[in-house]
Amino acid sequence: MLLRNKLLMVPGPTNIPNRVLEAMHRSIIYHRGEEFKDLYREIQDGLRYLFQTSNEVFVLSSSSSGGVECAIVNTISPGDKVLIVVNGVFSQRLRDVVEIYGGIPIELSVPWGKSISASDVEDLILKNMDIKAILIVHNETSTGVISPLAEIGDISDKYDKLLIVDAVSDLGGEEIKTDEWHVDICVAGTQKCLACPPGLALVSVSEKALDYVRNRSRPAFYFDLLRYIEYQKRMETPFTPAISLLFALREGLRLIKEEGLENRIERHQTCAEILRSGIKAMGLQMFSEEAFSNTVTVFKMPEKINPNEIRETLENRYGILIADGMGALKGKVLRIGTMGMISEPEIRFTLYALEKALNEQRACAIWTDHLNHP
Ligand SMILES: Cc1ncc(COP(=O)(O)O)c(C=O)c1O
Repeated sequence: MLLRNKLLMVPGPTNIPNRVLEAMHRSIIYHRGEEFKDLYREIQDGLRYLFQTSNEVFVLSSSSSGGVECAIVNTISPGDKVLIVVNGVFSQRLRDVVEIYGGIPIELSVPWGKSISASDVEDLILKNMDIKAILIVHNETSTGVISPLAEIGDISDKYDKLLIVDAVSDLGGEEIKTDEWHVDICVAGTQKCLACPPGLALVSVSEKALDYVRNRSRPAFYFDLLRYIEYQKRMETPFTPAISLLFALREGLRLIKEEGLENRIERHQTCAEILRSGIKAMGLQMFSEEAFSNTVTVFKMPEKINPNEIRETLENRYGILIADGMGALKGKVLRIGTMGMISEPEIRFTLYALEKALNEQRACAIWTDHLNHP
């Protein structure tokens, strides 16, 4: 059961189960007290299960972008060469952050919507052996394309690079084996596949990455992982954390354990498959025909169909929110998120509403054509 006014079918934030919402309806506790340590300890256990890691996982009171910035500011020093796979809006942002902190991006540009080839990553490393780190968005939320992370992880390990992954829009919905796939820093957010409120960034950091942090050449303050490491030893955070959100996160992680990570990933896959085949059955085309994400589906708008009107009809008539395209895709595609607590009924209802909205616009387009060319 979800408490909500509108059905969020955007790629985050997502619908929040009552149990998670209700977990926040309680008094605030002291973040230097015993009760907090118990809360944080349980969260740590849940996060290790979710990330499939034995690494330290830090919880930052910031949106997911803070997690990305934290990963970069703590490991990339001015002048460091960084391989960045750029295939959409969020990977462009990774590049921007690296540049802001003085890193030198070595870009592997992949046309938006095309799948990423791990061997291209390897070729670029062979041409630039002094690359220090590889940065990649696992699930490009702007295009709906997922990257071959396991293979890229093997390459990163083979050449002893630091692998930093933005898994903000898919951790908890797609398989990510942090340790097995040699992911050194993995960043996620709470407002997507975890079905928790926005406002916390989750950052897993390997021992290898911690060495980079200890040897970094620049200071940091709010996102200083050295501080987080010290406080985490006693189950605390350096600054006053968003305690209510931590209550929500603990409950969200309990729900994930109860469902089982494998089942949850399978549910995301099933929902995305139903959505994709329903969209194709309406005669619409996917933005990408390769490497489909199971958490965000991006599809093209045919000529004469106005995507904004489709979104408005869905929202105003059916109470369903779906998202516009981002960056160069604005006004050209629509995006539907299948994240968190989404199940088959929500998908079927969204498909029903989408078909109605589309048919209405198609009928109007035919009628207008008829009036103009009687
Ligand atoms: C892949 C990816 N990275 C980063 C972000 C940024 O997250 P936030 O808005 O929580 O900072 C998003 C948000 O949609 C995302 O999808």
